[in-house]
Amino acid sequence: QRLDNFNGGDDRVWNQRYFANDQFSASTGPVFLNIGGEGPASHAWMTEGHWVTMAQQTKAMLFQIEHRFYGDSHPTHDASIENLSFLSSEQALADIANFITNITATYKLHGRKWIVFGGSYSGALSVWARFKYPHLISGAISASAPLQPLMNFYQYQEVVQTSLTTLGSPTCAKNVLTASDAITTLLKSESGCKILSSHFKLCSPLSESVNDQFWFQESVANNIQEVVQYNRDNNEFEGGKGRFNITHICKIMDDESLGGPLERYAELNTQTLKEMNITCLDSSFKKFISDTKSTSWDKATGMRQWTYQTCAEFGWFQTTDSKNQPFHGFPLKLSLEICEEVFGIGAEQLNRGIQRSLENYGGVAIAGLVTNVTLYNGKIDPWSAVSYPTLTSVGIRSIVVPDTAHCAIMYPASPHDSQYLKQARLEVERELKAWLGL
Ligand SMILES: *[C@@H]1O[C@H](CO)[C@@H](O)[C@H](O)[C@H]1NC(C)=O
Ligand SMILES: *[C@@H]1O[C@H](CO)[C@@H](O)[C@H](O)[C@H]1NC(C)=O
Ligand SMILES: *[C@@H]1O[C@H](CO)[C@@H](O)[C@H](O)[C@H]1NC(C)=O
Ligand SMILES: *[C@@H]1O[C@H](CO)[C@@H](O)[C@H](O)[C@H]1NC(C)=O
Ligand SMILES: *[C@@H]1O[C@H](CO)[C@@H](O)[C@H](O)[C@H]1NC(C)=O
Repeated sequence: QRLDNFNGGDDRVWNQRYFANDQFSASTGPVFLNIGGEGPASHAWMTEGHWVTMAQQTKAMLFQIEHRFYGDSHPTHDASIENLSFLSSEQALADIANFITNITATYKLHGRKWIVFGGSYSGALSVWARFKYPHLISGAISASAPLQPLMNFYQYQEVVQTSLTTLGSPTCAKNVLTASDAITTLLKSESGCKILSSHFKLCSPLSESVNDQFWFQESVANNIQEVVQYNRDNNEFEGGKGRFNITHICKIMDDESLGGPLERYAELNTQTLKEMNITCLDSSFKKFISDTKSTSWDKATGMRQWTYQTCAEFGWFQTTDSKNQPFHGFPLKLSLEICEEVFGIGAEQLNRGIQRSLENYGGVAIAGLVTNVTLYNGKIDPWSAVSYPTLTSVGIRSIVVPDTAHCAIMYPASPHDSQYLKQARLEVERELKAWLGL
């Protein structure tokens, strides 16, 4: 790929990693492209997942590309701020277009329709790719795509609260809130900080630094957010461990035999650490900042790059600035400080970046403007709040599943799948076949 797709005078190039699988392919079939997002591309997806089922049905050739700056796809010597100027969704989209053109010629795929796939950030990329390159891409199948760039994404925690209530219990979110209140009180005194450091098994004791205290609150809230976002997805094929589910964490938060809500919150933390095989909770803000500042590829394994993209293009900071949610302690100010401290990007520049993404992609309004696109959303997924979980008769074919989480539709089918999820997969298959005239 070219380092800079938007400067014809710059002929520097780099190697983008991709995978191919022709085991289902026939010359009459389409070509599927799984678009990589903010992490390494994974070999496991070349033989598993809903898209592979659809490849079998339609005799598709399969490709997966890794997003520039993630995994092994390193366009530059390192991830310095100067080099990160080549990391953007726009460059990634141009990589996709170039990939399709080049691979069509290289693999002699002329006349076969290209369909793109993606979930989460790469779900948005797949919608944008169909929008920008309709002459190259015949359709997009996307999941949980955040289509609306947004600075203060406080709605995230609101959905977490609703999901805890609907799938957990009526008292679950309230008990989390009571625990969060107790933490706020304890943080005010030195003895309180000592209690928290030991209850929550911190790797290094809490300091007086406000940011350390914020980061601690965010770290424990993460024990719940992660479970809600990925509730019961079937991720074992890619080496995912059986995560906790909402029922399980609400059982802990409601269990009076464990003590008050704070003790239950601490127990949830202990169980989560054990599940992840980690001995202590690392909640040092200083360490997070210094890790995120590392520019060598062995240290910059994704968090730095994605943080950069949120600061430069999208926002999506999951703050506690709403009253209708159960956590405390990570206001917008904290995310703004991270952008400033790590990348020198201030609030005004961040605003301009978000504005630019809106101009470029249209936000959720794009949903009315594209054709031959499906968009899955799970109602309990916090990210659905910046996607498009609205039923329409024109544009995107929006499919909303009431009881599933982030990107659940993409995973391999499981006997434990909800009836709604099974129906959603069939609906996507029907749509795809209509696009292909099958
Ligand atoms: C990347 O950054 C490093 C140091 O900041 C610099 O030496 C290098 O030339 C930059 N550009 C590329 C294309 O790697
Ligand atoms: C595809 O890209 C590779 C790598 O840049 C290049 O060597 C090859 O000539 C290209 N093929 C076509 C048909 O454009
Ligand atoms: C939730 O997790 C618990 C504990 O890991 C497990 O026993 C239970 O079967 C899970 N429930 C569902 C609905 O997946
Ligand atoms: C947990 O981590 C320890 C030390 O890193 C390792 O020896 C052990 O095998 C791990 N256990 C599991 C179940 O992953
Ligand atoms: C889009 O889907 C329709 C059927 O719904 C199909 O007729 C048309 O050919 C598709 N467009 C492309 C570019 O494949």
